[in-house]
Amino acid sequence: MGQLVFAAKVTHIPRMVLSELPGPLHGCRDDAIHGLQDIGQRIVDSGADTVVILDTHWLSNAAYHVNACADFQGVFTSNEFPTQIEALEYDHAGNPSLAKALAAQATERGVLTIAHENRNLGLEYGTLVPMHFMKLRRRVKVVSVSGWLAYSTIDESRRVGAAFREAIEAGDGKVALVASGSLSHRIHDNAVVFDRPYETSDEFFRQCDLRALDLWQQGRWTEFNAMLPTYARACYGEGWMHDTAMLLGALGGDDYQGKAEIVTPYFLASGTGQVNAVLPLR
Ligand SMILES: [Fe+2]
Repeated sequence: MGQLVFAAKVTHIPRMVLSELPGPLHGCRDDAIHGLQDIGQRIVDSGADTVVILDTHWLSNAAYHVNACADFQGVFTSNEFPTQIEALEYDHAGNPSLAKALAAQATERGVLTIAHENRNLGLEYGTLVPMHFMKLRRRVKVVSVSGWLAYSTIDESRRVGAAFREAIEAGDGKVALVASGSLSHRIHDNAVVFDRPYETSDEFFRQCDLRALDLWQQGRWTEFNAMLPTYARACYGEGWMHDTAMLLGALGGDDYQGKAEIVTPYFLASGTGQVNAVLPLR
């Protein structure tokens, strides 16, 4: 019988790539990098054979999508931040059977979800950046899921997450589930964005993020779930926070009782609110 063995919400900010390189920004995001390394090691230690990444950079305007390719190799340059993520090499194995099972079960539960075994369908950096910094290259397989649903409801994403849990438990593997995206995500106005890498774009967003994380750490999921649809919209949550909704759906929704462990404390990046947090399974 399959098992969900690990769950986390993680950052994928591009500055980690610059932080890793020699130059004036070397080390600027060591906090986030060390958190991802820690989480990657915990995924390995959990015995997971596959990590499913709910990727808020994979935009879907219709239906949910799962990348079911067996192999991912290439060199990635971000069209969003080409000066920050340039020539990031990657080499990962996929898990076609799990990807297809996830899609089939979500569709069975009433939310159309499509698995694609198409080598021309690439991975977005919401998947590639965490995989890079979690150091899971060829150690753990990866399945990427569209986590930015332009016209879906938070409730649909919860149901998709719950269906993913059913599919995982009906299978025979050990799976880690990672929501890849920020909390509030209002990047600064263009005129000032490069001058304010470590500030919030609005104190309201920072306060909402901190309150949300308080609820996470106290295990007050009923309250957080109730605020999530409005929070995601009011604070420009990345991908409208469908990654978080899917993750919490997989963890049991309002019945989930875990208390979040903050691995990298809340930090600000170009106006947005970020965190690395583990959501314990027991
Ligand atoms: Fe992002």
